[in-house]
Amino acid sequence: MPKRVTKAIFPVAGMGTRFLPATKSVPKEIMTLVDRPLIQYAIDEARAAGIKEFIFVTSRGKGALEDYFDHAPQLEQELRKKGKTELLETLQNTNMESGAIAYIRQHRALGLGHAVWCARRLIAKEPFAVILPDDVIAAEKPCLQQMVEAYEETGGNMVAAMEVPAEQASSYGMLDVAEDMGQMVKVKGMVEKPKSEDAPSNLAVIGRYILAPTVLQNLNQIKSGSGGEIQLTDAIANEIEQDRNVYGYRFKGQRFDCGSKSGFLQATVAFGLAREDLREDLSAYLESISAADKAAQ
Ligand code: G1P
Repeated sequence: MPKRVTKAIFPVAGMGTRFLPATKSVPKEIMTLVDRPLIQYAIDEARAAGIKEFIFVTSRGKGALEDYFDHAPQLEQELRKKGKTELLETLQNTNMESGAIAYIRQHRALGLGHAVWCARRLIAKEPFAVILPDDVIAAEKPCLQQMVEAYEETGGNMVAAMEVPAEQASSYGMLDVAEDMGQMVKVKGMVEKPKSEDAPSNLAVIGRYILAPTVLQNLNQIKSGSGGEIQLTDAIANEIEQDRNVYGYRFKGQRFDCGSKSGFLQATVAFGLAREDLREDLSAYLESISAADKAAQ
């Protein structure tokens, strides 16, 4: 059985320019889906998968992100005094064990591969997970947990995979499939953001990875690729060249691209509708606007 995956890297150094002006002072990862920051969804997913060490690759201006993970004893005391036990519990569920989080700075925006490489000394010789918090996945069993369970059988490297329309290939890392086993595919190549006519399949990489430590060694040698950046996709593809396995895992769940405004809004609606305390109001509102829309046509 492969070594347990207990460490996860969260690349959060991006400037989030697509969300300006909000991201002028608020890190994108702190923006809220309903009432929880984006990063909280990623952390909860990692915890469910058995992750114990959380490594954030940050950059200048991400102070609010570090503060978010501090305990808030004063606030807790206040809620306790007022008997607001439910809120207290919500707050305490975000508390992290002392020493469980590490922050590493990515000094220059050289790409996702470079961001992951910045965490190399904290990973050393173990397999590790990478979670891109922009990709929010609603699932009965959290996506990374599904992958960890599959990985316990396969070892090697595993990326979350999802079919996308051909014209969207240029937004993703795309898989070249050697063997399709249904839930999983064995991968024989990977291309970062190809033109749609050059995409080897319609299976795209989504932001969940379980990687062998050798990927970090590959990153030592990788030159800049697509978009002039050091690509994680290229370092994983290198694994195949060195006869190590890479699998694509078709996760069960719905993925939202919270790196885009439209994806963020869709996630907000979906997560709002999934909440018992909001469902009735929100769906009544959505029905009313869609009825008004039809009437106007
Ligand atoms: C990154 C990866 C890409 C992957 C995507 C998933 O791209 O480089 O391979 O398909 O995340 O969201 P980005 O969206 O950061 O440009």
